[in-house]
Amino acid sequence: MILDSFRMTDMVAIVTGAGRGIGRGIAQAFGEVGADVVCAARTAEQIEETASVIRKNGRRALAHTCDVNHREQLEQLVQHTLDEFGRIDVVVNNAGGTMPSPALKTSERMFEESFHFNVTSALVLSQLTIPHMLEKDGGAILNISSGLSHFVEKAFVAYGTSKAALNHMTRMLAHEFAPRVRVNAIAVGSIETEALAPFLAEADLRGKMEALTPMGRLGKVEDIAQAAVYLTSPASSWVTGKIVEVDGGTIASNWPLDLSGM
Ligand SMILES: NC(=O)c1ccc[n+]([C@@H]2O[C@H](COP(=O)([O-])OP(=O)(O)OC[C@H]3O[C@@H](n4cnc5c(N)ncnc54)[C@H](OP(=O)(O)O)[C@@H]3O)[C@@H](O)[C@H]2O)c1
Repeated sequence: MILDSFRMTDMVAIVTGAGRGIGRGIAQAFGEVGADVVCAARTAEQIEETASVIRKNGRRALAHTCDVNHREQLEQLVQHTLDEFGRIDVVVNNAGGTMPSPALKTSERMFEESFHFNVTSALVLSQLTIPHMLEKDGGAILNISSGLSHFVEKAFVAYGTSKAALNHMTRMLAHEFAPRVRVNAIAVGSIETEALAPFLAEADLRGKMEALTPMGRLGKVEDIAQAAVYLTSPASSWVTGKIVEVDGGTIASNWPLDLSGM
């Protein structure tokens, strides 16, 4: 049955940034299709909430507090996962993001912090987990990128450049670890999460963004979670090194504000 290839029965998945937004949506979707999930983020109550929904739906879930910017905390995350579940099949590098900042006001420090958060942390968690995937049945890594990795927009130089690097790191790792570990990314369009909420409060920003989106609405976390299940389950076993655009059909940025004068 085709539907069976979308199941992740008894796979063990780590999802970073699983306390809210896209990460929570992905973690809960993984639980629904049969995976045991390790939910990682800094705020304990939020990841515990995600984990408890997964447990209620019948799968095992662990809430592990972790700041992905710190290697030793990623090492502890991996060790805790192995101690509890004995294997790692899937990793979603979802925690990321950078506040907008005009190019001339973007300090070297801010630029490097953006790169560390969006790219280096994903490399480190991949390095720490791939050997365990190779020891067992192989695995899949999914990096959460952004439409701004390929669309241009003022005041997003740090964020967009970091996500563009994440895209190419995805291709590089996919090439190095095929066929046993697949590595893909989703270039996410504008999704209604708390990260976007403060901006949506601005005068008719939602209406303007919807007008610039061919599918006529902002994305929901489920739109990304469904793609995440595809890219990490056997359904995509012939897919690696790809940046899959899930963005309501946009072919340019649908961000309507010019923040270059911030
Ligand atoms: N929302 C969008 O429209 C959109 C568009 C394109 C791409 N994306 C990408 O999608 C990903 C998720 O975005 P989102 O909108 O879902 O964000 P969000 O709603 O703000 O949630 C972010 C999650 O990441 C966690 N997190 C933040 N900093 C962390 C750190 N240093 N270490 C570990 N966890 C951390 C947060 O929890 P704590 O604060 O408790 O750690 C939270 O659970 C990001 O990579 C973002 O760039 C989002």
